[in-house]
Amino acid sequence: MSTATPSAEAARAAAPSPLRKPLSTIRVPQPLVLVIFGGTGDLARRKLIPAIFRLWQQKLLPEGFAVVGVAREQMDDEEYRRRMKEGLAEFATAPTDDEWAAFGGRLFFGSHVFDDEEGFERLKAQLKEVDLEFGIPSNRLFYYAVPPQVVDEISRDLGRAGMICPPEYPCWTRAIVEKPFGRDLESARELNTALLEVYDERQIFRIDHYLGKETLQNMMVFRFGNSVWEPLWSRNHIDHVQITVAETVGLETRADYYERSGALRDMVQSHLLQILTLVAMEPPASYDADSVRNEKVKVLRAIRPMLGEDIDRETVRGQYTAAGDARGYRQEDGAAPESRTETFAAVRMQVDNWRWAGVPFYLRTGKRLPAKATEVVVSFRPAPHPVMDVVENERPAPNALVLRIQPREGISLFFEAKVPGLAGRLQAVSMDFDYATAFRDAESPEAYQRLLLDAMLGDATLFARRDEVEAAWTLVTPILERWEASGEPEGYPAGSWGPDGADRLLGEDGRAWHQP
Ligand code: BG6
Repeated sequence: MSTATPSAEAARAAAPSPLRKPLSTIRVPQPLVLVIFGGTGDLARRKLIPAIFRLWQQKLLPEGFAVVGVAREQMDDEEYRRRMKEGLAEFATAPTDDEWAAFGGRLFFGSHVFDDEEGFERLKAQLKEVDLEFGIPSNRLFYYAVPPQVVDEISRDLGRAGMICPPEYPCWTRAIVEKPFGRDLESARELNTALLEVYDERQIFRIDHYLGKETLQNMMVFRFGNSVWEPLWSRNHIDHVQITVAETVGLETRADYYERSGALRDMVQSHLLQILTLVAMEPPASYDADSVRNEKVKVLRAIRPMLGEDIDRETVRGQYTAAGDARGYRQEDGAAPESRTETFAAVRMQVDNWRWAGVPFYLRTGKRLPAKATEVVVSFRPAPHPVMDVVENERPAPNALVLRIQPREGISLFFEAKVPGLAGRLQAVSMDFDYATAFRDAESPEAYQRLLLDAMLGDATLFARRDEVEAAWTLVTPILERWEASGEPEGYPAGSWGPDGADRLLGEDGRAWHQP
């Protein structure tokens, strides 16, 4: 096989450039204290402490590193360490005695912080002590693993106590804010305004854990690290795009949160729209936080807004009902017997720009569906003219590219092939890339590992910017309001692929959902 000699221009483009940022950075951050508000919560135990521990095992944390968990309960450091160790054993891997002896002593608990006005002064003093013990120059990463209603209060208290280093100071302060980022456009704006009273935008890291998933980071490599897809990646060749995030779990123990949220707020406003932006964005000039996020915001702003009756036509909401052994949503612990909270949402969106005009994006997500699967299906236009006669009016099926985000991470390209034999039949076959076989020896880090490390390094590429979050809420809020003002979600039996309306949404366009 002959390999083409790269042109001088291609060689120049491939040369290292000081302007180009690497895809991901493996550097040890500067010494810091990570302060987790909501330090005893589910997220801290299941995700944050395991991710931190894994980074520590991989020697990616600096010598000067400590965690201070903050919550309303009362306990001492020893009790906090015990709980976090238990969490590691339950949700990740139990540390060995040696590991715990070296790591456990870096965890502290901040009791009494919310007791009275001096609470944050006490936290400040505690952090100073930790700084002294570990040689940390007052660098802070504040993780808000708390409901949005308390984010502004905590921020103001931190500001009042003089605990936020402005960007021009030698020490740094950064804030990671968990979703849900508000509950509609207005509350998201208020939250942004409150945060920006004490932080600079460059200090705020709005987290969407989907962006930390390997397969979604690969979406940009797939699109912009290869040249074969780009000529196909537009209305000229793509018929439509489907984005599915299916879950088998139901409400679990989250009624307090979920009853006030529902699938549209919980999943579409954040994860599904983020996936859509990665599929639809223009190539950024470089892989830095501003260039990437500028392109993502342009996509969100190009999505056609829906108002009034458009919403009834373009969206579907569902709620799972009892089936077999599975309870219906309304029978779940903590759900109201008449609850109208949707556990399934499907939306047809149009991205009104040059690249995507006329290409529908169908989004769906739901709980208690038959499989846990996140995938993007890019369905290409059918072959324009039937050159050959095939059996019984069989027409070649359109080509499709399926990007499996999780599980069975990989990418498959479906195309038509002739079934061997005299009958002249066609059959769709696939070319498959599968992470597990292609990268046998590579470990996929947990999303939170990637994102925590990036925030410690000050890299916001995989975090949402203010305008991005607000653009997403601008699209979703009118749908929420219309749903709240009218009707009920359509029932679907637990364990099915959602309400009939979801099939009708594609059926009326002559299309059908790809089942993962
Ligand atoms: C969270 C939602 O953001 O994402 C949950 O609040 C959902 O309702 C979860 O279950 C899904 O995440 P993953 O990584 O398991 O697909």
